[in-house]
Amino acid sequence: MKRSPKGRLELTWMGKDSALIPVEDGKYDYAWVDPSDPRALEVKSIEVVEQVGEIDGPTGANENLLIVGDSGDALRSLGTIPEYADKYLGQVKLVYIDPPFNTEETFENYADQLEHSIWLTLMRDRISEMGPLLTPDASIWVHLDDGEVHRMRLLLDEAFGADRFVTTIVWQKKTSRDNRAAFSSSQDYILVYALQGAQVWKHARHRLPDMGRFANPDHDPRGPWRSVPMSAQAGHATQSQFYDITTPTGVVHSPPPNRAWTYTKPRFEELLADDLIYWPRNGDGKPRLKKFPTEDDGLVPMTIWLTDEVGGNPDGKRESSALFGEDSVFDTPKPERLLERVVHIATSPGDLVMDFFGGSGTTAAVAHKMGRRWLTVELSQSNADRFITPRLTAVVRGEEPGGITSTSERVAVEELPDGMTAQEAQKFNSLLTKAAKGMDMLDSATLKALRAATKTCDEKTLLWEGGGGFTVSKMGPSMYEVDDEDGQVFLSPTRRTGLGPRPSLGS
Ligand SMILES: C[S@@+](CC[C@H](N)C(=O)[O-])C[C@H]1O[C@@H](n2cnc3c(N)ncnc32)[C@H](O)[C@@H]1O
Repeated sequence: MKRSPKGRLELTWMGKDSALIPVEDGKYDYAWVDPSDPRALEVKSIEVVEQVGEIDGPTGANENLLIVGDSGDALRSLGTIPEYADKYLGQVKLVYIDPPFNTEETFENYADQLEHSIWLTLMRDRISEMGPLLTPDASIWVHLDDGEVHRMRLLLDEAFGADRFVTTIVWQKKTSRDNRAAFSSSQDYILVYALQGAQVWKHARHRLPDMGRFANPDHDPRGPWRSVPMSAQAGHATQSQFYDITTPTGVVHSPPPNRAWTYTKPRFEELLADDLIYWPRNGDGKPRLKKFPTEDDGLVPMTIWLTDEVGGNPDGKRESSALFGEDSVFDTPKPERLLERVVHIATSPGDLVMDFFGGSGTTAAVAHKMGRRWLTVELSQSNADRFITPRLTAVVRGEEPGGITSTSERVAVEELPDGMTAQEAQKFNSLLTKAAKGMDMLDSATLKALRAATKTCDEKTLLWEGGGGFTVSKMGPSMYEVDDEDGQVFLSPTRRTGLGPRPSLGS
């Protein structure tokens, strides 16, 4: 590290002033070249291979795109070739990348052992190429482990400005202990940047639904709800908010002292007809208003994301093996619930989500199921053929039951005591069984009644039934060749498929 003349902190490395080009299509191998080398600026063609599912519509194949090839090449072409630039420039609301962590391992599905200087240049160039594709309120999420996260943070500070850093999320990737290591690593990191800076972006990002406080004791077909008091300060109320209400059991309530009802009588009657009023204390209590998660402000996301909430690496593997079979699992798939949370916080339905280190296609699959448009790039043809295309095809056809396709909710079998959630009932029920074991304090009839009153079960709701489509494309070959004798780069007479060097940068 050195201090630049302006006093800004800057990360330097061997080769920072050079450019990298892929040595051979589909290989994890790069060569250093001068930044003015036409191959470093080349805009390769994007060739359509096939279209799957519906073509038109908000989530059709004209919107969602898988590109097989190097992400640097793909990003440059997307931002430059007019038919793609028209569609994608300034359109990407969320970038989530889970690049090779540089763990010095060779996985079955990809190599993960690059020189730090190559890894940094590779990341720096892709971060810069993606810039023109982003919306002004975009956020960028970069998933890494201890190996490179500190260098990436400096890289992102340099690319976007340190004031665009929002937070580092700590993701609990596993709960088991690795006894071979000095410390058993439990977490990965997700660096979050927002182009507008955290203070402005926080108004655009979504909060998390607070499912813990919701329950569905009356089996409302609209799903779990919670109840809030239905009274307001008397000082701000009109005369029409003071009246008597009779409960279903015949108890008459007037507003609490110094309070009025929140609604006028006609509005209250509408709410009652819509089954939006809850009567606590078995029908004797004051009316309360039912609130569903979509009407709720929700919770500000915290920076530690536990396996229990969003899944861990073993869940990603389980989802992958359910899809592709035990013998064909992707090495490092992320669990769908993790991506669901990222996509939920950072986007709304219809927004464009991009991941240019596609892997097994988790980001695209989750974005698709959540009604977002998506763009993903994967270097390896084999990963695209074995994992991404079949996975997304199954998602489109509604034949992929795993991950976030359905959700399971803990619900009460009978109406719970007032204020008790299904989660609390479940905990109480299991503790009751434990506590009752060595004690004779509770007679069996009471125990049985308590168990029955707090019995809960899982209720599955299908969230995704199929639909939409996507296009599979691949990057065209380079138009350049290198003279074996003098190393000169020249235009290949047989491969004139792309646009040549990017016009705006020139060579
Ligand atoms: C850690 S995996 C991503 C896993 C993914 N998040 C998932 O859940 O399945 C990284 C992926 O990046 C791909 N990759 C590596 N270098 C690349 C490059 N230059 N361009 C595009 N993809 C690349 C690898 O082939 C690998 O599939």
